[in-house]
Amino acid sequence: MAYVVNHLPEYPNERVLVGPKTFADAGIYKISDEMALVETLDFFTPVVNNPYDYGQIAAANAMSDVYAMGGKPLTAMNILCYPLKFLDRDILVEILRGGADKVNEAGAVVIGGHTLQDNEIKYGLSVTGVIHPGKIVTNAGARPGDMLVLTKPLGTGLIISAIKANKVCAEDIKRVTASMCQLNKTASETMLEVGVNACTDITGFGLMGHAYEMAEASKATLSFSAGRIPVFEGCERYVRMGLIPGVSKLSKKYLKDAITVDSRVEEEFLDVLFDAQTSGGLLISLPKGKVEILCTKLKERGVMVASVIGEVCERRGVSIVVTP
Ligand code: CO
Ligand code: CO
Repeated sequence: MAYVVNHLPEYPNERVLVGPKTFADAGIYKISDEMALVETLDFFTPVVNNPYDYGQIAAANAMSDVYAMGGKPLTAMNILCYPLKFLDRDILVEILRGGADKVNEAGAVVIGGHTLQDNEIKYGLSVTGVIHPGKIVTNAGARPGDMLVLTKPLGTGLIISAIKANKVCAEDIKRVTASMCQLNKTASETMLEVGVNACTDITGFGLMGHAYEMAEASKATLSFSAGRIPVFEGCERYVRMGLIPGVSKLSKKYLKDAITVDSRVEEEFLDVLFDAQTSGGLLISLPKGKVEILCTKLKERGVMVASVIGEVCERRGVSIVVTP
């Protein structure tokens, strides 16, 4: 995508605080000194078989970038593609109902949308939120000495691919669905309350891909302790079964020179670290002294996990280091 974005004309606008060239989580447009709009959109083909859950997941995922930057979603618009000969309209109702319920849970509201004929169902939302221009959290603020906290386990891409291949057990579907449905709202509000240096949500590029972006933007090296990183049960088994999504393989290939991995870290586990996530958690970078209070509050408030998985170091050669 960088190739395409870099070949587009630039139209400088002083109200654009975060634009397309920074590869940040969402675009930000300043309205006044106290208020800016934070805007993002995402849509994709079904990730689970239950249409209501799919709708919820698509909505939680679409709003996630607003939360990663410390914003508050206000409104959303549906984007729905479906086959012309799709007879069971109740399925479409269920998808949109799941989305609307999740948007409502976020304290926002669906105010419209657009549908399109397509061979395959695709659903998602474009989301508009608000944020204080002086309180934007980006992926560029990580400082040497910071600790890194992750708020959801990894492995949704592998489990979705196992669902599609009909090779998954019901327990795995249940766990991963609950995780993808969980909003990053509480995690975001808690990080704002505690005060952090940087944040990004973990989505299509996997933990390693988004960590790479944070390392580059912050001009630091991120060091992860593999043994501390939470992953869904069964993931390494799905790797061995050859169920790695194509995009995850691409990230791994693309970033191989930017990462140093200790030989004691198993290859299967490394594949999970590159696994493309849908509605993944937040990766938060914050001063060591604040870690305990953040993790305690996150756990008290029901956030899926609050794991300290690594630290930020002075830039040294590679962007990412993975130790056992
Ligand atoms: Co993001
Ligand atoms: Co996104």
